[in-house]
Amino acid sequence: MDRKRIVSGIRPTGDLHIGHYLGVLKNWVELQRDYQCFYFVADWHALTSEFRDPGVIRKSSRDMVMTWLSVGIDPQASVIFRQSDIKNHAELFLLLSMITPVPWLERNPAYKELREELKEKDLSNLGFLGYPVLQAADIVMYHADKVPIGEDQLPHLELTREIVRRFNFLYGEGILKEPREILTEAARVLGIDGRKMSKSYGNAIFIYETEESLRQKVMQMFTDVKRLRKKDPGEPEDCNLYPLHEYFTDEETRREIQAGCRSADLGCVECKKILIGNLVSEFQPVWEKIDYYRDHASLIDDIIRQGATRAGEESEATMEKVRAAMRMSG
Ligand code: TRP
Repeated sequence: MDRKRIVSGIRPTGDLHIGHYLGVLKNWVELQRDYQCFYFVADWHALTSEFRDPGVIRKSSRDMVMTWLSVGIDPQASVIFRQSDIKNHAELFLLLSMITPVPWLERNPAYKELREELKEKDLSNLGFLGYPVLQAADIVMYHADKVPIGEDQLPHLELTREIVRRFNFLYGEGILKEPREILTEAARVLGIDGRKMSKSYGNAIFIYETEESLRQKVMQMFTDVKRLRKKDPGEPEDCNLYPLHEYFTDEETRREIQAGCRSADLGCVECKKILIGNLVSEFQPVWEKIDYYRDHASLIDDIIRQGATRAGEESEATMEKVRAAMRMSG
């Protein structure tokens, strides 16, 4: 039997940080074992909000693929592609837009939230309103069984299911598949200023750093703000840095850190040094691979081209059925 399918994408709006690594990419790597995965660069989705300055999209698209490969996304096992290479996504978006009532989009909470979050941007464009329809097209194009997403994306997936049901009701049961979510927990890591880690806040630790920049960032991090002097006891639960140990430090060392922090035997600087060491051992191999791909950029182009071929074939098979169902062919 064919393996069940996964579809997921990331918008290329800048470099990926360790929040993406923990919350998304590690999951993607694991899912490759049990599923046929389609992982794509959602560059048209990025364009819905970055249309004034699209240069960043092109650059981050290639960098993002390099990063994916370097953390263990396997181009032999998974289909890695760029959305805008597969024009069928645009056609399916158009066809699905015919059957999607505008009020479904306007009441979408993710839409309202993102508009609020990106208040300084002009987001009154049709493309941005249609964002979830494009996402629905991405997902149903490859008959995804499951979509690994964070909680914030659930409304989009629900909308995808509603569009699928309406499509199948109008044009024939079973043509498009209703996807389910694999809910992935967002990584509980804070940025170096103690706010949520985000590229737009300028507080992110990126997957690709030099050892020196990584060290500087960790050293700058707020810890437990009540711990002013080394001899004051600290509380890991109130520390901005400690959650990183939960991800990168083994259990025994964590217990020592907790005890040492609470008894004031372990200072924040030493605690940070332990973390830096662990981050370096985790990411050194990734950095080396990214450097390798930077020096062999044509490898990335080849992988993106191969992905476009595979995704192109798959998508064409779907489109033939969709066009026929909507009496647009034959
Ligand atoms: N909207 C998703 C995000 O911002 C990106 C995305 C676009 C996506 N198309 C998708 C995710 C299809 C999963 C499946 O994170």
